[in-house]
Amino acid sequence: DASVSPSPAPEAERLAVGDLFQPFSPAYQEDPARSFYVEAHARAPVAYSRAFYAYLVTSHAEVMHVLRDPVLFSSARLLEPVVPFTPELLARLEQGTFPLPPGLFNNDPPSHTRARLLFSKAFTPASVAAMEPQIRRFASELAGELASGPDELELMHDFTFKLPMRVIAALVGVPYEDMPQLKAWQDDWFKLFDPALDQATKMAAADGFLAYQRYYADLIAERRKQPADDLISALLRAREGSDMLTTEEMISHLVVLLFAGYETAASLMGSLLFALLDEPELWRRVGDDAALLQAATEETLRMHASVQMEPRHTTRNTTVGGVEIPAGAMVMTFFGAANYDARVFPDPLRFDLTRPNGNRHLGFGWGIHSCLGASLARLEVRAGMQALRAALPDLRLAEGARRSYLPSLFFRTPAAVPAVRG
Ligand code: HEM
Repeated sequence: DASVSPSPAPEAERLAVGDLFQPFSPAYQEDPARSFYVEAHARAPVAYSRAFYAYLVTSHAEVMHVLRDPVLFSSARLLEPVVPFTPELLARLEQGTFPLPPGLFNNDPPSHTRARLLFSKAFTPASVAAMEPQIRRFASELAGELASGPDELELMHDFTFKLPMRVIAALVGVPYEDMPQLKAWQDDWFKLFDPALDQATKMAAADGFLAYQRYYADLIAERRKQPADDLISALLRAREGSDMLTTEEMISHLVVLLFAGYETAASLMGSLLFALLDEPELWRRVGDDAALLQAATEETLRMHASVQMEPRHTTRNTTVGGVEIPAGAMVMTFFGAANYDARVFPDPLRFDLTRPNGNRHLGFGWGIHSCLGASLARLEVRAGMQALRAALPDLRLAEGARRSYLPSLFFRTPAAVPAVRG
């Protein structure tokens, strides 16, 4: 009960639990719930990691407490480099627009309120629904290719990444052939923030990021002259009174959208395929039972949400779960852990397709930053699974295949889903 202020675990215990947070250890990558979340709930739902200099918030009530107050728990510093950029790197980046204006993820009210309002005018439920026939066509084409290809498949590479890549290209309005280049520039952008990389690599990455900005600026200029039926054109039209987005703001949105809407959807499909193919009976039944497929999708979002955690920063001194937190501290907010809180999800380690109340997991976040692409993601997954099931009714996991995930602080992306066409 969120209204009851809990008494916090003693400091020694909060530090001990914080030390259990080892996101790059094999045990954690395999199963963050068993290796960390369950223990954190029992011992210290608000812990402190000495390795990451961050407060770790894992219980459902306290995660909600953080998400309910986006001004106190700010997202504005989300894209700040851990290691400050060198003057040389900064000078290179400033040949373009740097930093880009805040988009949605890394923004706070009132600026976030305005950005989300304008963005929502371009990216509407109706525009998502209108994409359904196209998404179903992409899904059947991809699944059809697999039905006539080799027997052994790796479904992340062969399917789950390909479908959202086509969808996001069509949605935004970039030629599909350009996607590998955009993905490479996107990786360049991430490299700028990677403390492990050397200066030469980052200088090259900066050039990639500048090229990425120019690419979008050119595309936006083209659509300004000749609008098309895509998100870029819709963003150009979006108005709130006389207010509209600047070109730089649009670039911010587009840069974020590519990774927000692509790897996340691929990861969810990968995790869902592990669950569906693990039981031949389940794979058989989801063919004509849309409600069952939906329950499996939501339960996968609960247990293996693609985004496990997002950081926030406190804007003043406060208390969470009875633990005092100073201003300026990093608060790691674990959607993934809240989803295993037994007070909200009984028997949380069980994959249960009969959870009541529409399974109110936090896999898409909650509150003002909650996922804008949730309905598109659900649509992609539904279309993708149904097309695969129709084209490959005897699909099964390869002998000895087990769930494995890529190392990451934030994301839960299957390393591979090896399967046999059957
Ligand atoms: C925000 C998860 C797919 C666009 C979020 C957040 C989560 C999330 C947890 C909240 C972040 C925070 O509170 O800091 C997911 C998952 C997806 C998915 C699990 C797939 C299964 C998509 C897609 C799109 C998208 C397909 C768009 C095409 C966004 C945007 C935001 C967001 C724009 C930021 C909203 C804001 O800050 O106001 N997503 N997402 N997402 N997502 Fe998704």
